[in-house]
Amino acid sequence: MRIPIIAGNWKMYKDLTESKALAESLKNCLKDVNPEDTEVAICPTFTNLASVNEIIKGSNIKLGAQNMYPKQEGAFTGEISPLMLRSVGCQYVILGHSERRQYFGETDASVNEKVKVAFEYALTPIMCVGETLEHREKGITNSVVKTQVEGGLKDIPKEKAKNIVIAYEPVWAIGTGKVATKEQAQEVHAMIRGVLKNLYDEATANSIRIQYGGSVKPDNVKELMAQPDIDGALVGGAALKADSFEAIVKFKK
Ligand code: PGA
Repeated sequence: MRIPIIAGNWKMYKDLTESKALAESLKNCLKDVNPEDTEVAICPTFTNLASVNEIIKGSNIKLGAQNMYPKQEGAFTGEISPLMLRSVGCQYVILGHSERRQYFGETDASVNEKVKVAFEYALTPIMCVGETLEHREKGITNSVVKTQVEGGLKDIPKEKAKNIVIAYEPVWAIGTGKVATKEQAQEVHAMIRGVLKNLYDEATANSIRIQYGGSVKPDNVKELMAQPDIDGALVGGAALKADSFEAIVKFKK
């Protein structure tokens, strides 16, 4: 049984005061969510992780970061290590988000290195994959996403891989209001599960949670989550307001 996981990616939004206020509101309105039923994580920007952690510590909301440098420490000016993330309470780390691939030159190889190091430091990666509009129009969505999944998971043994979270986020659906249809999303999720089965085995493939991301909103989350291979959502814009994130987390209601 895969427990659905809803994660909020706050991206480069919200200063310290705003982040603390949102964390307080979420702690309050999500307190009746049973983590055995739906897992919840929020991923503020680096500078606000420690303060948000103070607020949600001991609650049913988990903390995640949006990126990580794959070294414990060193002369890497401006970077943040997995150990540092652990020390401020992170359990999750988003890796290979399409914005990082697009603007910061991340590749399947660099994502793979980060996935390996995240596991070494007991951080659960939320590894993002997804095709661009051009890929989709050319009919190469499946091969692009397959390459990203295989590249990101290279040399990751199944004992670790079974704990990863994969986020399928079609780039054309991110921040555009253009959500993939439930059929489009399910098709790619099922394909990803097939890739995982080939890489590992059926039991491992069936234990890995695959989130959908890209314009998830309160009014489309239910039909997406009803698909057999969609196990959660990675939410951007709608995660920035307590009421819309609450409605997404409580999709079963
Ligand atoms: P969106 O972003 O919900 O604003 O489309 C999702 C994401 O980029 O993770």
